[in-house]
Amino acid sequence: MNAWLLVLPQVILVLMILISSIKIISASEKTGIAKPGCDDHCGDIPIPFPFGTRDGCYLNLLFRVVCAYPENTSDPPELILWDINSNGSITHISLEGQLTLLMAVNRRCYNRSSELTSDLLDPWMRLNAPGFTINSTANMFTVVGCSDIAFFEGSNIFDSQKYRTGCMTFCQSAADVINGSCSGLGCCQASIPPGQSGVNISMDTSFGHSNVSDFNPCGYAFVVEKEAFIFSSANLTNMIEVTRLPMVIDWSILDWVLTAGIVDWFATARTCEAARKNNTLYACKGNTSCYEPETTIGYRCSCLPGYQGNPYLDGIDGCTDIDECQDNIHNCAKDSACYNIVGSHECNCRKGYRGDGRTDGEGCIHIADDTSKFYKLVTGASVGALCIVIATVWLYIWFRRRKSMVMRDKFFNDNGGMLLKQQLATQGSGNVTVIFSIHELKIATNNFDGNKIIGEGGFGTVYHGFLADNREVAIKKSKLIDRTQIGTFINEVIVLSQVNHRNIVKLLGCCLESEIPLLVYEFIENGTLFEHIHDTRTTSKLSLERRLRIALETAGVLSYLHSVASPPIIHRDIKSRNILLDKNYTAKVSDFGASRLVPQDQAQISTMVQGTFGYLDPEYMQTSKLTEKSDVYSFGVLLVELLTSMKVVSFDRPEEERNLANYFLSILKRKRLLEILDGNIVHEMNVKLLEEVANLAKRCLKVKGEDRPTMKEVAMELEGTLKLSKLGKVKKGPKEQEMEPLLVVQSRSFGFVGNENIFPQGDMSEVMHLENEGGR
Ligand SMILES: *[C@@H]1O[C@H](CO)[C@@H](O)[C@H](O)[C@H]1NC(C)=O
Ligand SMILES: *[C@@H]1O[C@H](CO)[C@@H](O)[C@H](O)[C@H]1NC(C)=O
Ligand SMILES: *[C@@H]1O[C@H](CO)[C@@H](O)[C@H](O)[C@H]1NC(C)=O
Ligand SMILES: *[C@@H]1O[C@H](CO)[C@@H](O)[C@H](O)[C@H]1NC(C)=O
Ligand SMILES: *[C@@H]1O[C@H](CO)[C@@H](O)[C@H](O)[C@H]1NC(C)=O
Ligand SMILES: *[C@@H]1O[C@H](CO)[C@@H](O)[C@H](O)[C@H]1NC(C)=O
Ligand SMILES: *[C@@H]1O[C@H](CO)[C@@H](O)[C@H](O)[C@H]1NC(C)=O
Ligand SMILES: *[C@@H]1O[C@H](CO)[C@@H](O)[C@H](O)[C@H]1NC(C)=O
Ligand SMILES: *[C@@H]1O[C@H](CO)[C@@H](O)[C@H](O)[C@H]1NC(C)=O
Ligand SMILES: *[C@@H]1O[C@H](CO)[C@@H](O)[C@H](O)[C@H]1NC(C)=O
Repeated sequence: MNAWLLVLPQVILVLMILISSIKIISASEKTGIAKPGCDDHCGDIPIPFPFGTRDGCYLNLLFRVVCAYPENTSDPPELILWDINSNGSITHISLEGQLTLLMAVNRRCYNRSSELTSDLLDPWMRLNAPGFTINSTANMFTVVGCSDIAFFEGSNIFDSQKYRTGCMTFCQSAADVINGSCSGLGCCQASIPPGQSGVNISMDTSFGHSNVSDFNPCGYAFVVEKEAFIFSSANLTNMIEVTRLPMVIDWSILDWVLTAGIVDWFATARTCEAARKNNTLYACKGNTSCYEPETTIGYRCSCLPGYQGNPYLDGIDGCTDIDECQDNIHNCAKDSACYNIVGSHECNCRKGYRGDGRTDGEGCIHIADDTSKFYKLVTGASVGALCIVIATVWLYIWFRRRKSMVMRDKFFNDNGGMLLKQQLATQGSGNVTVIFSIHELKIATNNFDGNKIIGEGGFGTVYHGFLADNREVAIKKSKLIDRTQIGTFINEVIVLSQVNHRNIVKLLGCCLESEIPLLVYEFIENGTLFEHIHDTRTTSKLSLERRLRIALETAGVLSYLHSVASPPIIHRDIKSRNILLDKNYTAKVSDFGASRLVPQDQAQISTMVQGTFGYLDPEYMQTSKLTEKSDVYSFGVLLVELLTSMKVVSFDRPEEERNLANYFLSILKRKRLLEILDGNIVHEMNVKLLEEVANLAKRCLKVKGEDRPTMKEVAMELEGTLKLSKLGKVKKGPKEQEMEPLLVVQSRSFGFVGNENIFPQGDMSEVMHLENEGGR
């Protein structure tokens, strides 16, 4: 311990000495641009090799300089070129090939009578040696004075060609001149071509100085570094004090060749290539390149990029690698580490950064900023935006759904949905009537597309569609119904859904979730009876048999509604438009929209008169008392329509014929039935049959309901007529032969198949009997 304590101060001392010595060494390295052991400075002026003051310190005698200390003064020493005949004094030497030389200013001074009084002319301004030329871009030949003219006479270093230039000044007073401008007023300038070595300057006065000698006794002519001389009017007077001004000289490497002693020598200029071949004289050392300046002879050396030092020296003073990192001359950006490599350096971005790391490049980009941060931000923002969008859309849909759900529930309740459900539950017939959702029906009708409309009228709109199970349906959207009638409507729906009659368009279900209740029927493909009767293209296809069959089927339906259904139902709107035909011309009674249930204890009910003009029971019109006989009347009209193929009401006909029923009755009265019957169905052999049917129609059209037969009677009579007529055998025209099998097919499936509870067996057998007869 004690020993250590004693040693410690010494160790510190040694370390301090070491550190300081390192500092001293590094400092001397910096200034060591001369050969080791040579004077590297003259006063403040550095003397880089190839220049030197002593033997062995300069490259050759062309580069010998003298550091001259002025006698008896403390003035700084002057560095002068050794073999110069001019009073040049070097102020700066650059290894790029220039040196700044203070050169004499030539002057001529005159007295008031314009006589020359002094002449400090150094006409032959010789530059040290060939290879030392006036730098043409940095210098200007300049003349100052108010009445002076001067000439520059140089010789080109390449071919010794003489070159002459010059300029003249003029001014009458100091106020004439423009400060900073050498355009002739008090000062003029001429540029110097490149490659001028030896120069003679001559000067004279142009108009004499007598009128200006007060402020400008002398004229001056000199070559000067542009930046070092800025003309001012004061110079016309004060330049008398100035003896030397700086000019820039270019130098290059030339070989000094001694021929005899030191006196006879010549300088030889070589190209880089030639110089390189003679290693002993080649001036460019390691890590350098050689080049030949354009404006002078000889060659020069320069450090390779990334190196610094004296290209004319070897070793550590020569061109050595620049540690850009340590010297802080690198171009490494913030956040990048500088790595020096020989001749160059590299910038490596810190961990977590990427890029070339250079200030003049893309620099270093924080990867976190760049990727995770940036992407996090972007993805965060986009995810956020997406979330908002999704949430908005979801909320919107939810609100829409909820609203429509609320509306649906409201409609469902308004439309008596609960009532219907209850009824269906108590009746135990839930599987007969289906309550469709509005959604299902929207899909079925392509959202109630206008193209799907197959019927439109006072009752509402009928759409064609396919349910999800591919069932073809007709969906009826009724006109707004009286809300107070909801209960009745529900009853009708229930009853109709229970009516399972082959000749009644089957109600498949309903939808109560829309404002207007929707009814879903089975689709009947062949259109209405009305179309078949009144379209001239199809009317001929309706043979008498077909017509009677349709009439019978319709009568069967009405008979069934009036007497079998419980409670009885009055259709109220029997007309050809409400009889649909399927592909086998089987009648399907539709549109129970106006139908009324007749309470069991009442034979008639009072309602608002409703029906279709032309088919409407006149008694009902007058009394508003609705009975089953109203349907009988309407059926009578339908029968007449079937027999005559005439429109029930037509304003094309004369007034008395306008209403078909009345017209028919008057025709019958006049016993001229054949005039009104459709020619297509009248044949010799069926006139009697037609008369029978016409008679039946006549009875149905009785003004008093009581006088009309019941529908059951009508149906039975029609049945009997058909049976008795033995239609199948009556005629065998080519048309009928074709039709017969149709009738058979039709017959076979004819009847009230399905719910036997609803249709009594007895009636069925009767009908079947008929069919068998017809089929044979
Ligand atoms: C310098 O001083 C010395 C002695 O003092 C004298 O002999 C010499 O002439 C002076 N030289 C100049 C240039 O003044
Ligand atoms: C140049 O130097 C010579 C002596 O070497 C001297 O006589 C002359 O006056 C100097 N000229 C100028 C302009 O300084
Ligand atoms: C000017 O100089 C010349 C010659 O030196 C002299 O003869 C003349 O008198 C001088 N004139 C004046 C005004 O000094
Ligand atoms: C003159 O000097 C400048 C620097 O002061 C240098 O760039 C140029 O090359 C030199 N030579 C010529 C002929 O301009
Ligand atoms: C300068 O003048 C001297 C002497 O008159 C002459 O020998 C030399 O060739 C001239 N130099 C130039 C460049 O004109
Ligand atoms: C030029 O500069 C001098 C001082 O340098 C000044 O006295 C003179 O008034 C200036 N002349 C003009 C025209 O500005
Ligand atoms: C000098 O001034 C006088 C009088 O003003 C004039 O006659 C003469 O021409 C002037 N000389 C020059 C060279 O301008
Ligand atoms: C020219 O005059 C200005 C202003 O007095 C002065 O600063 C400058 O040194 C002068 N130039 C020379 C070369 O004497
Ligand atoms: C190099 O130059 C020297 C001096 O001029 C000469 O003596 C020598 O032969 C030259 N060597 C070559 C290889 O050219
Ligand atoms: C060239 O540069 C390298 C790296 O600075 C240095 O080590 C080497 O000494 C140099 N070569 C010469 C001939 O100076």
